[in-house]
Amino acid sequence: MEQQGKGQWGSSFGFMMAAVGSAVGLGNLWGFPYKMGANGGFAFLLLYLVLVVFVGYVIMLTELALGRKTGKGVVGAYTDLSKKYTFIGWMSAIAPWLILSFYCMLGGYCMKYAVANLGDLFGAGWGIGDAASDAYFFGFAADMGQTVIFSLIFVLLTVFIVRAGVSGGIEKFTSIAMPALFVMLVIVIIRACTLPGASEGIAFMFKPDWSAFEGTGWVKVLSVAGGQMFFSLSLGMSIMVAYGSYLPKTDNLERSALIIPFADTIVALMAGLATMPAVFAAGLEPGAGPGLLFVTLQTVFKGMGGVGPIFGFVFYTLVFIAAITSSISLLEGITAVAVDKMEEKGKSVNRNKLVMILGASIAVTASIISIDGLGQNGFPQFLGQGCWLDAVDLISEGILMPLAACYCAIVVPTTLVEEEVTLNGNQFKTQKFYEFCIKFIAPIMMVIVLLGQLDGFLGLGMFG
Ligand code: PHE
Repeated sequence: MEQQGKGQWGSSFGFMMAAVGSAVGLGNLWGFPYKMGANGGFAFLLLYLVLVVFVGYVIMLTELALGRKTGKGVVGAYTDLSKKYTFIGWMSAIAPWLILSFYCMLGGYCMKYAVANLGDLFGAGWGIGDAASDAYFFGFAADMGQTVIFSLIFVLLTVFIVRAGVSGGIEKFTSIAMPALFVMLVIVIIRACTLPGASEGIAFMFKPDWSAFEGTGWVKVLSVAGGQMFFSLSLGMSIMVAYGSYLPKTDNLERSALIIPFADTIVALMAGLATMPAVFAAGLEPGAGPGLLFVTLQTVFKGMGGVGPIFGFVFYTLVFIAAITSSISLLEGITAVAVDKMEEKGKSVNRNKLVMILGASIAVTASIISIDGLGQNGFPQFLGQGCWLDAVDLISEGILMPLAACYCAIVVPTTLVEEEVTLNGNQFKTQKFYEFCIKFIAPIMMVIVLLGQLDGFLGLGMFG
């Protein structure tokens, strides 16, 4: 177990699994299918792909290069560029801490659903039984005791893996978990796409429908797709900087920055194929938004008869795996910052202790978000949102993340990236493309995303 200071990835494959594990999460399995469905299907997909190539790839490369160059977590990395940029580092460090507080709650929900489907398989009293899917879900979400316990178990598991270190914990876990997730996803896709009526769901995703672009509609689609892309690629969040700092100087950065978004996008599409055909086959509403994961899909599993609980169990377990490989990256992103701070002060670094302290703070915030029960428990609400989760999401995903990514595009010198990419005589094949995108396209896109996120959260209706 690596107790002291910084670690390093054991292998290129291990790093890739950890980075893809961070990227593949609830955003892919939950956000992507329903946002795509609600924003023009194929039109959204096309725009999303363009954004991944022109913006996601270049920011990914910049963050990895910044991390590897400085060898530091995000606060130290920006401070190394210039003291006046330290605030960007802090923005990127606070955001994951906020996100973790609700991510752990949602991870806990997944565990609860995996367990409940198992209960149904054995006909046990702790299954979902005959309860209506929506009543069951909202009943569980409002039950403070249960949600807090599941959130805390999820936090504990996250802490347990991160404590074991970069190569001994994160890399080891994700190298097994990610291939397992992939296999489970394929099983669920085969089942979903062979259900009678599944083709409608496939058409819903892939049939071109440009009506979402009409008027100022395209701005909204662009900003939703852009926001989804940032979240899904774990950008503007300290993670890729930290993960880059554990990379050996021999790793080909350009290749890594291409493979991670590519794999993330494939999994997002696969998630769509695992869910949408089943939703349509069951005659349910695809635009159910966040309710899709726990209400709509649970209804689908219930309707499958005897095998339903088996697929339910496999599906929620796979979503749980996707969530935990992301939550460990969020915790590692802030752990890297804490390790740097200790080293700066000349104190000997006890990584174990730091992770425990950070984990304890997240246990507190995750419990707080959980007792709100998605706004059902009568607590006062903030920032015009319906629940505490949304308020925290507004600050982190809506404001801090796009702002940090925007600054990243503007302040990290292209020469730094070039230097890192061309170490060991590697060629920077996409250099011209990179420089153009990072200077012009990425910052403009980020501003559109920021405005769109605020518009969406605050319901201003600026973009129709
Ligand atoms: N990318 C993860 C997802 O798609 C979430 C995440 C966001 C993880 C930011 C780390 C940082 O769910």
